[in-house]
Amino acid sequence: MSGLARISGALALDGVPLASIAARFGTPCYVYSRALIEEAFRAFDEGLEGVAHTVCYAVKANSNLAVLDVLARLGAGFDIVSGGELARVLAAGGKAERVIFSGVGKSEAEMRAALAAGIRCFNVESDPEIERLAAVARSVGKVAPVSLRINPDVDARTHPYISTGLAANKFGIAHAHALDAARKVAASAGLRLAGIGCHIGSQILESSPLDEALDRLLALASRLASEGMALEHLDLGGGFGIRYRDEKPIDARAYCERLARRLGPSGFTVILEPGRAIAGPAGVLVTRVEYLKGDKARRFAVVDASMSELVRPALYHAWHDIVEVAPRGEAQATYDVVGPVCESADVLGTDRALAIRAGDLLAILGAGAYGMAMASNYNSRPRPAEVLVDAGGAREVRARESVESLFALEKRADPPPPR
Ligand code: LLP
Repeated sequence: MSGLARISGALALDGVPLASIAARFGTPCYVYSRALIEEAFRAFDEGLEGVAHTVCYAVKANSNLAVLDVLARLGAGFDIVSGGELARVLAAGGKAERVIFSGVGKSEAEMRAALAAGIRCFNVESDPEIERLAAVARSVGKVAPVSLRINPDVDARTHPYISTGLAANKFGIAHAHALDAARKVAASAGLRLAGIGCHIGSQILESSPLDEALDRLLALASRLASEGMALEHLDLGGGFGIRYRDEKPIDARAYCERLARRLGPSGFTVILEPGRAIAGPAGVLVTRVEYLKGDKARRFAVVDASMSELVRPALYHAWHDIVEVAPRGEAQATYDVVGPVCESADVLGTDRALAIRAGDLLAILGAGAYGMAMASNYNSRPRPAEVLVDAGGAREVRARESVESLFALEKRADPPPPR
């Protein structure tokens, strides 16, 4: 059975008790379900069956090689934003011809690496990027496939930190400038215009902003066609929200089926770039209670995970459900669940009703996306182990970092010069 469930009270992921994973691999520890990742990918991929398509998983959400490998085996494409992510995809067995390269700041070295690998297209976001890519492509004797990322000026109605489709955001080419940018690409030796796209934000919960963005892309595509610039694909980006608390996410399969019906006859290949919706629900962060502190106005559960391992609550005031791994059946108390890091923002959840004692395990849910991917070593904390639950077994897919590795690239100072 895939997903989180209680087996005689004890929390298990795909049938594997989280307590046994904590005992084997220590805490804090990220645990991912292969089955949930696969199910989520298939909802997009199968939903789009009626139209030519590539579902390009947004690697930034969770870039562990095992996660990429699971998806590559299902035929996923990948949306990358750096040379580092390209290297990961290739190391995990992903196919370069299914890779699209997003991001506002591609360096020349990254462009060269992506051209050498033979990626599907560059999602280009500005005039100077058009010029740089054309020059780099010519210098290596290649033609770079370009997809223009248009900023459709659509409000995704999500958190301002993760909204990207408004004119005021740094992302994409202004809608009003799109035509000129396309002409520029078409006229540039070294470039080939393959498509247009957009990505309007993340954790989107309503489909109407996505529909609006699609309307704008379609209108632009027909305008381009009328000028002899026929496109191969339309890229609608990612951004599909998930349930962290009580949200009602867009049903990916139903949305994709609708998209396939709408775009099937158009002849365009559809590209999507979902990250969170594929990796988010598939992961939990398992942590152990170190201390219960009851001497203050508030009660604190100090756990061994922190903002270094999961920064979303500190950064966005994001909510993640926090549940006991093995409930005690005792009376609950209300705790702020906090980490050991020396910042008042180091909070994983406030006002959580829990029945816990020091030493108990907690699971922080919905942590598969933008969890480990955004983890840091703040306070010299080694990043946690990552474990993949797979066909009823658990396998470490990233070892816990050692303390020595944290300063392995550093040097002590030389002795001060004699005065
Ligand atoms: N495509 C592009 C160009 C993107 O910038 C992103 C995410 C995605 C696709 C994938 O979006 P998703 O399907 O995962 O929503 N750290 C934040 C989320 C930042 C999203 C950045 N861009 C968080 O933890 O909520």
